[in-house]
Amino acid sequence: MVTAGEPAGLQVAGLRYRLGERVLLDGVDLGVEPGESVAVVGPSGSGKSTLLMCILGLIEADAGTVRVHGRELAGLPARQKAQVRREHVGTVFRSGELLPELTPLENVALPVLLGGGDYHAAYRRAAELLTELGVSQEETPTGTLSCDERQCIAVARALVTDPQVLLADEPTGSLGPQAREAVADLLFAAAQERGCALLVVTDDPAVAARAGRTLRLEAGVLTDAGSGVGA
Ligand SMILES: Nc1ncnc2c1ncn2[C@@H]1O[C@H](COP(=O)(O)OP(=O)(O)O)[C@@H](O)[C@H]1O
Ligand SMILES: [Mg+2]
Repeated sequence: MVTAGEPAGLQVAGLRYRLGERVLLDGVDLGVEPGESVAVVGPSGSGKSTLLMCILGLIEADAGTVRVHGRELAGLPARQKAQVRREHVGTVFRSGELLPELTPLENVALPVLLGGGDYHAAYRRAAELLTELGVSQEETPTGTLSCDERQCIAVARALVTDPQVLLADEPTGSLGPQAREAVADLLFAAAQERGCALLVVTDDPAVAARAGRTLRLEAGVLTDAGSGVGA
């Protein structure tokens, strides 16, 4: 629990990451409040995915701090980092990382089960989310579904644990127009209706335009790109 006065959402301060000679993150500061949505745009290769990996603690930054729902991740042992991720963070990546042999329902329920949650509650919540997202709940392996359907399932899976922080890396990148809209609706509803702190890396102007703020990552620095993309 976050107590009064403690920062909730996501706070990143002074994040540095060097890859060989290149400084990919040169002291990045970023705060995303509960219920707020922030888009990050920038040229390909500028380090946007690296930023998300550092926030998740999957890549160790050279310096800086990351607070998720009031918990400082830097310096935590890997197991405890994983626990903070499991309890408080939902992630949506372009490739989805769903298990192709499982049904959509099983895929969505999985994070709750892996976290030791109740079996029936996990399946009930997974079914609710899939219904909300308009994904059919046939007993088909997820791998046989379309890319658009799989991405909606990936969003449901990210939300099933009711995370406080939602990170998405080009979530609409390979989708058709209808699924792009559906996935964007889900992500922004998570911020507006569930109070998630949403950080979305995107080169999709329609997604960036819906975010409360848009930041641009270039030469290791995050700058305000105004509202909407391309500024
Ligand atoms: N594992 C890796 N090994 C070597 N170079 C990498 C690795 N991951 C990323 N890079 C390089 O780091 C830079 C930033 O990558 P990335 O964060 O994926 O950028 P973006 O998501 O903005 O396109 C790129 O130049 C990329 O080639
Ligand atoms: Mg990337």
